[in-house]
Amino acid sequence: MSSFSISKVSFLKGKIKLPADKSITHRAIIISSISKGKTIIDNFSLSRDCLYTLEAFRKLGIKIIKKDLKLLVYGRGLYGLRPPKSPIFVGDSGTTFRLLCGVLAGQDFSSVLTAGKSLSRRPMLRVTQPLRMMGARIISESKIKNLKEEYPPIIINGAELKAITYRLPVASAQVKSAILLAGLYAEGTTKIIEPIPTRDHTERMLKLFKASLTVKKKEIAIKGKRELTSPGYIFIPGDISSASFFIVGSLILEGSSLLINSVSLNPTRLGLIKVLKRMGAKITLKYRDTSSSELIGDVWVKSSRLRSTVVKAEEVPSLIDEIPILMVASCFAEGRTLIESVQELRVKETDRIRSMVEGLTKMGAKVSLEKNGAKENIIIEGETNLKGNKLNSYGDHRTAMSLVIAGLKAKGKTVIDDISCIKKSFPNFLEILKGIIH
Ligand code: S3P
Repeated sequence: MSSFSISKVSFLKGKIKLPADKSITHRAIIISSISKGKTIIDNFSLSRDCLYTLEAFRKLGIKIIKKDLKLLVYGRGLYGLRPPKSPIFVGDSGTTFRLLCGVLAGQDFSSVLTAGKSLSRRPMLRVTQPLRMMGARIISESKIKNLKEEYPPIIINGAELKAITYRLPVASAQVKSAILLAGLYAEGTTKIIEPIPTRDHTERMLKLFKASLTVKKKEIAIKGKRELTSPGYIFIPGDISSASFFIVGSLILEGSSLLINSVSLNPTRLGLIKVLKRMGAKITLKYRDTSSSELIGDVWVKSSRLRSTVVKAEEVPSLIDEIPILMVASCFAEGRTLIESVQELRVKETDRIRSMVEGLTKMGAKVSLEKNGAKENIIIEGETNLKGNKLNSYGDHRTAMSLVIAGLKAKGKTVIDDISCIKKSFPNFLEILKGIIH
């Protein structure tokens, strides 16, 4: 655990390129492993989470060669995975755990999935429940003890799966993806109804690998028992969630101007940009490549005077990982910002409502919470002058990076207790930040 201190800076300026998108990297490794043919994954994410996915598939018998930022995956088809010789440990990577549940449910062997401390406290019933409806045989201590929730570790005994029609009760791309991946192994057509759209990288990647998948309004349908074919080459654009810290940093520091090259501009991930623009942000998107399965482009940001807004529940899934940094932006906006239905933040790497409310309040921000049944809203009174303080990241990468950005504009010194957690998604965050600070 290493701490980090930062003091007020003048502005951010320059041109940066960010590491590859984490969500797309997970899907690229998983889907190329269970498809036929070799796949070159160009510019993959070296984040700790994605390395867990890579190691998991190596353990499942897939040959993956890693050279610099390229991976060569020797896919073995839907039925080519081999029984793992020991439990598969996925660290604290929720995406690895939940998506793997989908793949492993349909195998003809058993696997044990184990997790690190923070992931072992995160809810898994949202995934295991629909998978059990498909016929998956999943055992866990929480299930044996008849607990209301289910947590890692779990044992997945491979089974014959059947298609289901499932309406997602929580807007979650991880749950949707686990069901779609299990659907590849199921007899019949699996249908998922998604009331509020979430990131659609799995759907895009499966189509690229020629899965029989259709999307009609809120319904996604996938036909099972059909082999996938590798396109041979996939390029992974930069991560828009990683970009969000620099976008907000540039907006709040007067005189800033930043160009972020080659990031994923997938419409299901642009919630933060839409909200910030509504708040008066000067952000320009320049689409570069619209022919590949994921949209890619550049983001220009100039410092801007922000005004408050209301973020509606339907917008939350498109900016779920960006709420911590949006809270930072809201502290500097004119007026009172309301972010509705943020309760899912309670079950991320840490309880991000607690970590962010505590951190920003310690810096002098006016943040409050409002409960409406199971729903929780965040209210932030803007235009406060933040002051540096000693802060806890609670081991959460997005809390740590958001508080670093707040520290760039706060008076005095901001000290964050544990910064090493940023390796989970963005190992070179500080290096890139240092290169643009003026
Ligand atoms: C992710 C989905 C989101 C997000 C996470 C990555 C994914 O989680 O918070 O960082 O890659 O599918 P949920 O599905 O739990 O909302």
